Parts: sequence; C-alpha cells; structure tokens
Amino acid sequence: MRLLQNILIGTFLFSTLNTQAATPTKPIGLRTEYLENPIGLDNTHPRLTWMLNDARRGAKQTAYQVFVGTDSAEVSRGKGGDWATTKIASANILATYSGRALQPFKKYYWKVDVWDKDGQRSASAVSSFEMGMLKMTNWKGTWISDEQGVNVKPAPYFRTTFGTGKKVKSARAYIAVAGLYELYINGEKIGNHRLDPMYTRFDRRTLYVTYDVTKNIMAGKNAIGVLLGNGWYNHQSTAVWDFDKASWRNRPTFCFDLRITYEDGTFETVRSSEQWKTSFSPITLNSIYTAEHYDARLDQPGWNTINFDDTKWKPAFARPVPSQNVTAQVLHPVRNVEEIPAKTINKLEDGAVVFDLGRNISGVTKFTVKGKEGTVIRLKHGERLSKNGHVDLSNIDLHYRPTDDKDPFQVDIFTLSGKGEETFMPKFNYKGFQYVEVTSSEPIELSTKSLTGYFMHSDVPPAGKVNSSNPTINNIWYATNNSYLSNLFGYPTDCPQREKNGWTGDAHIAAETGLYNFDGITVYEKWLADHRDEQQPNGTLPSIIPTAGWGYEWGNGPDWTSTIAIIPWDIYMFYGDTKILKDNYENITRYVNHINDLYPTGLTTWGLGDWVPVKSVSPVEVTSTAYYFADVTIAGKIAGILGNKADQQKYIALANKIKKAFNDKYLNEQTGNYNKGLQTELAVPLYWGLVPDAFRAKIAARLAERVKADNYHLDVGILGGKAILGALSDNGYPDVAYKIASQETYPSWGWWMVNGATTLYENWNIDAKHDISLNHIMFGNIGAWLYSGIAGIKPDERQPGFKNVILQPNFVPGLDQFTAEHASPYGKIVSSWKRNGDAVEYSVTVPANTSAEITFPVSGGKKAWLDGKAVSGIYHVAAGSYQFTIK
Ligand code: BGC
Repeated sequence: MRLLQNILIGTFLFSTLNTQAATPTKPIGLRTEYLENPIGLDNTHPRLTWMLNDARRGAKQTAYQVFVGTDSAEVSRGKGGDWATTKIASANILATYSGRALQPFKKYYWKVDVWDKDGQRSASAVSSFEMGMLKMTNWKGTWISDEQGVNVKPAPYFRTTFGTGKKVKSARAYIAVAGLYELYINGEKIGNHRLDPMYTRFDRRTLYVTYDVTKNIMAGKNAIGVLLGNGWYNHQSTAVWDFDKASWRNRPTFCFDLRITYEDGTFETVRSSEQWKTSFSPITLNSIYTAEHYDARLDQPGWNTINFDDTKWKPAFARPVPSQNVTAQVLHPVRNVEEIPAKTINKLEDGAVVFDLGRNISGVTKFTVKGKEGTVIRLKHGERLSKNGHVDLSNIDLHYRPTDDKDPFQVDIFTLSGKGEETFMPKFNYKGFQYVEVTSSEPIELSTKSLTGYFMHSDVPPAGKVNSSNPTINNIWYATNNSYLSNLFGYPTDCPQREKNGWTGDAHIAAETGLYNFDGITVYEKWLADHRDEQQPNGTLPSIIPTAGWGYEWGNGPDWTSTIAIIPWDIYMFYGDTKILKDNYENITRYVNHINDLYPTGLTTWGLGDWVPVKSVSPVEVTSTAYYFADVTIAGKIAGILGNKADQQKYIALANKIKKAFNDKYLNEQTGNYNKGLQTELAVPLYWGLVPDAFRAKIAARLAERVKADNYHLDVGILGGKAILGALSDNGYPDVAYKIASQETYPSWGWWMVNGATTLYENWNIDAKHDISLNHIMFGNIGAWLYSGIAGIKPDERQPGFKNVILQPNFVPGLDQFTAEHASPYGKIVSSWKRNGDAVEYSVTVPANTSAEITFPVSGGKKAWLDGKAVSGIYHVAAGSYQFTIK
C-alpha cells in the first residue's frame, strides 16, 4: 500500500515538471529571478531565463534576442522600449537585464526570440515582471504596532477603512513586517502564503511582500485588516539557544502601503499610520517554537470588514523601522502544500483521543469540533507514541526550558465559544509530528474527520523523480524528500520540532539532494544573504543561521559553516548561474582567509566532527581539514570563473598546501590507508578530492574492504554519511555502495524504512536515548546519490547547469530497473535502465540545447549498442532521446 502511495505521489510530482512537446523550437518556461511573472522585485538587474521546447535530436539554440518594455503589445511585436539585445549568437538561456534603469512599481513585459539548430527563428509568449519599492524612501506608511511590551501574549489586530471614488485599474499591497502577519482586505485573507515573511536577522534585513489586490478593492468603502504574530522576532518561549534574549526582540511591527492606480491615470496610497486602530485578537499565545492558543470566546466577527464597530479599539502606535534594509522577499513562500486526512483515531482509557496521520510531517492540524462554551481542548503534537498509546514528546522537547506550565511544547490550546461547529488552525506556528493527542475539559465527540494535517514547507517546485525495482529504495527517496521539505521554511533547518534552527552542517549535506529534487535556488539565495548578514568582519560565521547571537562560540568550524562556499558552488553546478558566486565571493575568501590565519599549518581541528556516528569516531582534524580544503578549492575555482587570476593562484596554492599537510600526516603510503582506516577516514578524503591521484585506487579498495569487514553496513556519522556512497561509486565500487544503500538491517536507511519511517531520522539507532528526532535531513545525501550514483546524472563543472550532462549509470547487482528524471534549467534529463535477460536497456533524454557524455559500465566483453551500431569509450550525444542496449 505504501509503495503504491509513493508511486502515485511520484507521478503527481512529476506531472508538474516541464515537459517537451513535439513542436520544434519554442522558447518556453520564461521566468524572472526564477519565478513566473513575479511582482515586487528590488533587483534592478533581474535575471531572465527560458528553455527550448524542441525534442528533436541535436536541438539547440544558435542565437537569441531579448525584448523588454512596458507595453506588452509592442514587446510581442519585437520592440523592447527598455531593453532590446541584438541577435546574440549564443546558447545562453539566461540574460541579465541591462537596459534602461527599471522604475519602482512599474510592470515590464519581456519575450525572447531564439534561433534553432537550423537557424529558424521563433518567439516565446510574452512574460512579465514588476518592480517593487527599490528604495526604502519610496515607502509612504509608518511602521506601527500596538503599545504593548514584548512579554504580552495576545496577538494584535490592526484595521483601517478607506474609500475609492473612482474606477480601480490596479492595486498592489506592500507589507513589510518584523514578526509574522496575515493581511485581509474586506474580510478576505490575501494570498496563500504561510508564516510570512521569512525569518531573517530582523535588525539587518526586513522583508516585504507584494500582492496584486486589484480584485479585492471594491467601489466605495473598503477595510484592511492586519494580524501580527511573533515568529522569530519576538520569541517568547525559552529554550537553550536564547532566542528570547535576542537583541532585536520586540513586539511585532509592520509597515503597509496600498498603491491604487485608477482608470483615469491617477493614483493614491493607503498607508499604515497612527490613525489605524488596534485590539487584541483571540490568539492568546503564539510561538513559532511551541504552539498557538486560541480563545474563541474572544472572537470579534467582522473585525476586518467595513461595518465593524471599532470605537473600543485603541489607536496604533508608531515604531522605528526595525532595520536599514527593508527589501523584497523573492522566493517560493511557505504554504500548506499537502492536506493529509487523519488515518486512524484511538480512544484511550483515560479519555484522551490520539489521531494518527500515518506519516511524519512538518506543519499544523486543522481541528473542527462542537462543544460547550469555555471547553478547553489541548492538541499535543508528537512524532511517536509511548507504550500506553499516549503521544510521547521525550525525543523532541529536551532543549525546551519552560519557566511555567502556560506554554507547553507542541500543544495547541483551543477554547470554545460554544457557538456551533468551530474550527481552529494555528497561523503563526508549525510543528513536527505524526500523532496528535486530544484532551478536553468537557466531553466532546470526535471522529477521524475532526482533524486534518497540513504539510507545510517552502513550496519549491518539484524537479526530480526516482523510481526503481526496489521498494526500499523508493521509500528512502520518498522519506528523504519528506525530510528535506520538512526542513525548508525560507531557510534550511535541522528539524521541524526540537530546534527549527538553520544548522549549517545539515544544510550543506542536504543541498544536492534538495537541488536534484526541487527547484530551490530562490530559498538558497535568500539564505546566503542571511549568511552575509551574520558574518563577522574577520570572516567567522555562526553554526546556526539566522541566529540571535548563539553559535559563534560552538559548532561553527568549517565542517558546518562551509555552507558559505559549498552552497553557492552547488547552486552554480545545478543552475549554471554565476550571480551567487559573485554575491558571495568576498565572503568566501574572508572566511577561508580567517581559517588560514587561525590554522597556518593547513590542518584544522575546528569543528564538531563526524556527528552522531554509528560507533567509530574519526579525528575532527580529518573531517574539518577536508571541508577547509573543499572551501579553498571552491574559492580558487570561483576566482578563476570571475577572472581573478591572482586569487585563483593564491587559493590553488593554499589548497595544495592543505592537501600536502593532510597527506603528510594521515596517509600511510605503505599500506595505502588513512589513519586507522575507518569508513569516514577513507570516504571523506576520497569524496572531497584530498587523495593523491596515485593512491585513489588503493584508498577506494581499502574503503571497499573496510565496508565488507563491517558486513556492508554503515559505520559513519553525518560527514562520513555525506561522502561514503559517492566515494565508492565514483571510484569503481558502485555495487558496494548499493549494498550499503539498500541494506535493511541496522544501521542503515533501510532499517528506518523497515521500521515504518516516512522521514529520515537523526540517529541510526532508533532506540537511542538522545539525538533521536525523527525528522532530520543530515543523513539525507543518499537522495542525491540515487541520481548521481545509480542513474549517474551529474552536472559538468566545465559546462554547469547541465549544459553538458555527465551520465555515468551504474547497473548495480540487486536492481532490475532504475529511472531518475531531473528538471534542469534546460529541461528534463532522463536516465533510465532496465534489465532484459542478460542485457540492459538504457534510455536517456538529453534536453534541447545541451549535450551529454555517457560512460557505460561495460564489462565481460559486453558493448553498448545504439541504432544497431556498437559505441565505445565516453560517448557524446547531442540533445534528444536515445535507447541503448548493453549486451
Ligand atoms: C542539531 C543538528 C546539528 C547539531 C550540531 C543538533 O542539535 O539538531 O542537526 O547539526 O546539533 O551539533
């Protein structure tokens, strides 16, 4: 049943990917800043991207021409009033706007014409983007809040009314918030974002969100309502990371401009001011970390509509702007992405009722019930059950330090008004859970229909699919994606329950898994800006980003904070876009220079090491030096890409020095071993390129022997876990890698699956007493490896963004069929193989405007055949679909 479900979900995900129809050459998939027709941009040089819809073999773009202007009809006729390139002989599918200065609030239209392989020209449909504020001084509103202090619990409402005398042509709402918000016009919630705006260092960067509200504005009188939540800005709950002591901490505040353009060409701005009115809402407590409490007796029906009587409300209170950098939020927002009905309901002897969603998620529940006025209902969310059937929080509440019993962990508290059927769903909190235990102060009647789960996460479009003949592998893929998404909320997190922290180490381990499976660039670009906000002048980064100050003193060695180098590099590999390299280059160099200052020998012991290992512990110096080496290597490569020859030489030299120091100390040339020869000690240097060429084969053989001696089971923590599968499959031992990957006994990913996991865990040992969150992504690189190690789909550093696709499939024993598909910037790549008796059928799709280099894993005199002809060596193909037989 679960397998069937997985396959259905896989199909569903993939049907949303861009597919290529048979019509030759049409530029499609036009996006600006990686979003479709975005509004509210602040980047005055937005990136315009497209792809070719051309399924013919050899399809490519020989030239392109871009047109941008404010008149869509003109643009569609091939006139770019603001920017028109010449016909550029290039295969590029990204053009960075560099026409006339883009104006605030203006909508621009664009299209691209392309010339195909035969020189035939074709035009895209017209796409658009709209600029936002551009400058902070363009805001008209006043930052406002109510007059309450940081410890006051109820969430505040704000409202105003205004009249429109003329016919509205268009209207845009701009809302900048420190904290969280929901915006309403005439009683209707605007947009479907959740937990907006995304978490940033609020005193360094404050995000605003733009909505098209043209349809919401009525002729005559209108009402605007804003509800504010605390989020990370006013962390009232107490836990070990001291967010309650954040220097920025304050009562939430917002600034709002509604720009209305009338049919007659005039416009006006409705703005936040001290004339707005405020009152407490029925949300009596809201904590991003713990839960939300709602007292329906305090409802104020119609509070956000015109006819509401607000005479008892107080005037709003002006506040200073929270940061000097109020800037556009440009990413896929958090949403309630999946609705998950409760699967079962279990009534316990003491009257508690436990709902089971059947899978572990991040998000919230919606609860519907009828009961007496004043009935207090508690909804306790957790990942596992105790033997007695109650929800058990002991694996996730250990870092929580409550000062009283009023803010219980992951427990929503809903007090009924007694007025018929009532529904509650938190607005400003999310949790990690599978089970919900409901207790009530008065008798209530419940059925499975009373509770529905919502899987919330950054709503990044799916970009990949894996399917194989091994159900365990399919389940691992599914669980890995669930944990990846559960840990994506505008920044990557470690877990959705215990911490919700932007742990750097977990994030760089999971980045490739994320990028093969989801179109995540917008979230990572935002998170790298968070890095720049947090970096100290000397280059140091904190272990969690964003932070309230915690993490500069612990856990922030290169094995974790290498995010600053690794994530830009991964994004560059997957998108071929150099912007993220340019934006972060100075920060990367400042970071590696700092490590060089601290550790002039080239060896560094700064870090946490191979976190949560199975049993063996590798020296921190081995893993941290490997990450330091990786960062310096990346710095050198980026310097080269950006044309900085002097830096390139400098970082190549530094990388060589680190490599030499590392091998001098740890490589035993006689035995061909590193240190004690543990899995991590061998896998990490292999994976990160520290092994001298002459020793690669020997070290790989040692690693394969080591794994065999460990009975083909893992003996790694998270850093070894990142490296081991690729270290084996890239160095001649894909079969050994697959044995580990498909293992079903402890310790292995499959062991979790056999035990019913729908997400990845924090610990190999499912009975561990600590470090046992059931939704961590830090062992999740297997998700990337399924693409790179079995399907063999890899980006090519020389032509990144899959301009050239490296295909190195591995037809590993134990698998009969394997298919992976990845939606690259150019279109869908497919690598699919199936056994047919002694032969293997191998099908590939190489998107238009790209090429591929295929290495067939042939042995025993077998050959790869295409269209009746034997092919050999590294086989180059142009775009198109190909069916090979290996026999
Ligand atoms: C987090 C990890 C993190 C680690 C660092 C844990 O509490 O949940 O995922 O990387 O601390 O030590």
